[in-house]
Formats: sequence, C-alpha cells, structure tokens
Amino acid sequence: MTEKEVFQWLAEVTHPAKDDKDIVSLGIVDEVVVDGGKVIVTLAFGKRPDPLKNYLEGAVRAAIYRNAPGGTEIEVKSVVKEAPKPKKPALDLNLDQVNEVAHIIGIASGKGGVGKSTVAVNLAIALARLGYRVGLADADVYGPSVPIMTATEDVQPEAEEGEEEGKELFIPIEKYGVKWMSIGYFAQPGQALIWRGPMACSALKQMILQVKWGPLDYLLVDMPPGTGDIHISLVNDIPMEGAVIVTTPQPVALADVEKGVNMFQNPSINRPIFGLVENMAWFTPEEHPDEKYYIFGQGGGAAMAERFGIDLLGQIPLVQSIREAGDSGEPVALGTRPDSLAFLDLAQKLVDAVNR
Ligand SMILES: Nc1ncnc2c1ncn2[C@@H]1O[C@H](COP(=O)(O)OP(=O)(O)OP(=O)(O)O)[C@@H](O)[C@H]1O
Ligand SMILES: [Mg+2]
Repeated sequence: MTEKEVFQWLAEVTHPAKDDKDIVSLGIVDEVVVDGGKVIVTLAFGKRPDPLKNYLEGAVRAAIYRNAPGGTEIEVKSVVKEAPKPKKPALDLNLDQVNEVAHIIGIASGKGGVGKSTVAVNLAIALARLGYRVGLADADVYGPSVPIMTATEDVQPEAEEGEEEGKELFIPIEKYGVKWMSIGYFAQPGQALIWRGPMACSALKQMILQVKWGPLDYLLVDMPPGTGDIHISLVNDIPMEGAVIVTTPQPVALADVEKGVNMFQNPSINRPIFGLVENMAWFTPEEHPDEKYYIFGQGGGAAMAERFGIDLLGQIPLVQSIREAGDSGEPVALGTRPDSLAFLDLAQKLVDAVNR
C-alpha cells in the first residue's frame, strides 16, 4: 500500500455539491500518510463550513476500507484551510500540432488595412511555388479574410478526434498548394465575430494549435491589426519564431510600424523581425506596367527600415489586379505578372532572412 495508491482510491470519492468532481482534483485531500498498516488522511476545507464534511470523511473512510488490505487502520482528519485552486488543464497550449513546423512566422503591423492579409496570402502561395510546405493561420478573429481571398468560403473544415480524449483537431483546407485555416470557416457568412478579450484570444490560439498541420516548412500567422494584449499573448504562447512587419510608405504609418517593431523586440518577447514589407510602394496602372507613381511618397519603407535597423524585405506595388484577385479568391501570386513575381521575390528574401 503506497500513498500514491491511496490518492487513486480517493479520486473515486466525488463531492455531490461540486458537480460531482472528485475530492483530489478539488484539492480537498491535503495529505496522505501511509505508516505500516495505518493510513492517515487529512482533508482540508475552506473557511466556509462545508455541510458535507462529515459525509466526505465517511466516504473517504469507506473508499480506503474497500481498497486497502484487511486489518488496515484508518484515520481521517479534517483541517480548515483554503484549498489551493485546482489547476486548469492548459488545453490551449498543447503544442503537439505545431511540433513538426520548422518556422512559425507572424505577419503583423501596428495598423489596420495596410495589406497584411494580402501579403500573408500571396506570400504563402509564393513560398509553396518555391517548393516549401506551407500553412497559413488566419488569426484575425475580428475580420478573417482568408476564406474570401482564397475562394474557400463555402468549405467547412472537417474535425477529427485528437489523441487527447474529447479534443477535436481541425483539418486545414488545402488549396493552391497551401494549408489554410481561418476562424471565418466556422462563422456564418455575414455573421459578425464580436469576441473580445480572453475569448478572442483563446479562439485564435485554437486556430493555430488545434489544427492538424502535419510537417510544414513555414506556418504564417496573419495577425489581427494592432499591438495589444492579444498580440502579446499570441506571440508568447505560440512558438512564433519571428515576424514580418507590413506597412505602407506614408510617414504617418511610422508610429504604427514602431509599435509593431516594439511588440516583437521588447525584452519580454524578444523575437527577431525578419524584415519590413512596403506594400502599396507605388501605383502601377494595369495597362502601363512599366510606370510607377509614388502616390504615397517615395522611399518611405526604406527610411522606416533604416530607422528601426531592420531589412526592407520587399516592395509590393499598388495594382488594381491585386485587389481584384483578393476579392475573387485567386491571389496574384499564382500568376506570372510583374506583381506576381514581386511576391515570389519576397518569398525568397524571407527564406534567406530566416536562414540567416
Ligand atoms: N498592393 C495592393 N494593391 C492593391 N490593393 C491592395 C494591395 N494590398 C492590399 N490591397 C487591398 O487593400 C484592402 C486591405 O488589404 P488587406 O485586407 O490585405 O489589409 P489588412 O492589413 O489585412 O487589413 P486588416 O487590418 O483589416 O486585417 C483589400 O481590399 C486589398 O485587396
Ligand atoms: Mg487582415
């Protein structure tokens, strides 16, 4: 008879007033001592008297009596003590599903609407075209864009029972050579996702950690706009290796880029930034692909990159077809136009930066 065995027996005793949870996980069993043929169990109850104290003492005695060798002496004591809070299982933070992912990279920006999702989706496709195994997790719980940008709004990811009991794993959608996952797949079209705080946070972690990614070279995470607590918790809890920051060239974007950079470089997070992507770097009319109009000013991205000591990974022009391709679900990175090639070039630069 060992103390561990006695704990196992006591785990069969449930508390009828506490959802029938067992007294061990409720923290009521304070101490078990096995001394030769004698078992001494100390139960701890909170300051508020528990009306079932006597019942539980009896149930403990009976559980030991049933299991222990005949003639065992049983002593059950109760003390008053705040029971320690039972630990919640950290379901969200099981990293099994990203174990086989070589590089998890966040696509971030301090600001909304600068083209994070456009860059993330096209970059994922471009990496796949370069021969890498790629996944993309759309972590924008407020405005998921991946289903529209890849024309997968109508599909529903299948779920399968994971190894952990009662826990489902979602199978990502495969299209254009990339594995996609988005919270948008679980919402009705047009349904607003109005999650806030912790709920949004755990929902978006699920979009990454509860997905059967399998072996991948790159998993890109399309981050929600901003640099708040959700972002910090996301970067911390997911083994995100580093980030790519997306910006537009205007000087007013500088403050937001700074926030984005600080988010990853602050001492408690401290992840590398693989570089800055200057989106909408210039405007090129569809019918004059050689012309460049610097409508937001020229050299903004390079100046920001220099200021923060990071590399300018690439420049993406503002082209009508990029917007149209996003809306129609056939991203430009699938094609061979100059702007398609800009994404292939960006993908190669990212690979080089990560390998450095
Ligand atoms: N280089 C570009 N050329 C043309 N249109 C673009 C370009 N980049 C982005 N867009 C368009 O700008 C809009 C915003 O882009 P996108 O959704 O990628 O931004 P975002 O930063 O992800 O936004 P949010 O902060 O809302 O998540 C989209 O309609 C997209 O098609
Ligand atoms: Mg977006």
